[in-house]
Amino acid sequence: MNSIARLAAAISVASLFPLSAFAADAKGTVEVVHWWTSGGEKAAVDVLKAQVEKDGFTWKDGAVAGGGGATAMTVLKSRAVAGNPPGVAQIKGPDIQEWASIGLLDSNLLKGVAKDEKWDSLLVRKVSDTVKYEGDYVAVPVNIHRVNWLWINPEVFKKAGIDKAPTTLDEFYAAGDKLKAAGFIALAHGGQPWQDSTVFEDVVLSVMGAEGYKKALVDLDQNTLSGPQMVKSFTELKKLTGYMDPNRAGRDWNIAAADVINGKAGMQMMGDWAKSEWTAAHKVAGKDYQCVPFPGTEKAFTYNIDSLAVFKVKDAGTQAAQQDLAKVALGKDFQKVFSINKGSIPVRTDMLDDMSALGFDACAQASAKDFLADDKTGGLQPSMAHNMATSLAVQGAIFDVVTNFMNDKDADPAKTAKQLASAVKAAQ
Ligand code: GAL
Repeated sequence: MNSIARLAAAISVASLFPLSAFAADAKGTVEVVHWWTSGGEKAAVDVLKAQVEKDGFTWKDGAVAGGGGATAMTVLKSRAVAGNPPGVAQIKGPDIQEWASIGLLDSNLLKGVAKDEKWDSLLVRKVSDTVKYEGDYVAVPVNIHRVNWLWINPEVFKKAGIDKAPTTLDEFYAAGDKLKAAGFIALAHGGQPWQDSTVFEDVVLSVMGAEGYKKALVDLDQNTLSGPQMVKSFTELKKLTGYMDPNRAGRDWNIAAADVINGKAGMQMMGDWAKSEWTAAHKVAGKDYQCVPFPGTEKAFTYNIDSLAVFKVKDAGTQAAQQDLAKVALGKDFQKVFSINKGSIPVRTDMLDDMSALGFDACAQASAKDFLADDKTGGLQPSMAHNMATSLAVQGAIFDVVTNFMNDKDADPAKTAKQLASAVKAAQ
């Protein structure tokens, strides 16, 4: 039984409604559980908070620190078991279906907003399917992140004698060698399972291409998971780990980003929420820093769509606040300001053709162009590391294998590929 099913068993119907739901509340309060706590991310979520408050509602901040959201998800589950879920929570990908299937999400609440605001015509099918349960919206998507980016400090590259961004794994290692020789951390990284797997999926994408990535990490094909291409992926991952700083255990992603921003490190492999830190530090894309697809992944786009799910609540004021938040979140103004702060691109297709006119920088313009192009070629794939491709149980099994591998210098790539295949099978 997966964890959401166990959760369902623990919740009685009577406990589905938040304790606060019965309190009288003038225009309505909405509590929002999310994990946007870095400097850049906070600036982005504050945009939503300000708009909801401007509309007269009260925003109760339910921020739970911890990149990638694992801690936030644990908190959310225990609150749901205790009969005290928030009105809104950041939930992504297939997990939305699991929460909806146990009856905790409200599939009626957003019907009117979605119709009035024409959500169906604004979103690509892949996106709307993710946030609908049995045909009805249970969450509002807020943005699109691209995961397979490499962030570069050009000043550090110059000091190390590197004249261009790497476009192949061999060029990447050559740049890493020069950075190390010049006394820099070559690849800034935080040793947390979700960050390890962010790097792993980039390497799989580089070695296998989008089709192989899909077979392995989306379709979970046993032969691909244990096959020669996966062995090669682990071999490359081992080599790449050698360019990371050995004191990385437990380091948050934004601290690793700061190492690149402050000139201590040359590169970071991270989704474009990393750009939020560069923006918060007043750095300009294309001038103070470079964003390039991770070498060998130029024709692919691993997507990560943040969305806010609505929980069933009884209080009419809270329901009104939930609806207001959902309407704001897909509005044009919010989509622009939020993504500029967050490093992402809008999820509204009517904005993606127009990125330069809307004031988005070079990284965001490239992201939007590639998103639209890769949607046509099969290069557009859901990120495993960011909850878009598999259940959380399968993702957890992959995380364990990858993190153990990266922390054991004697680990064998061939054995690890076999372990990966059996761990996935056991978690399915
Ligand atoms: C991702 C999330 C992003 C960003 C990142 C770091 O899972 O989608 O919005 O917050 O984690 O925490």
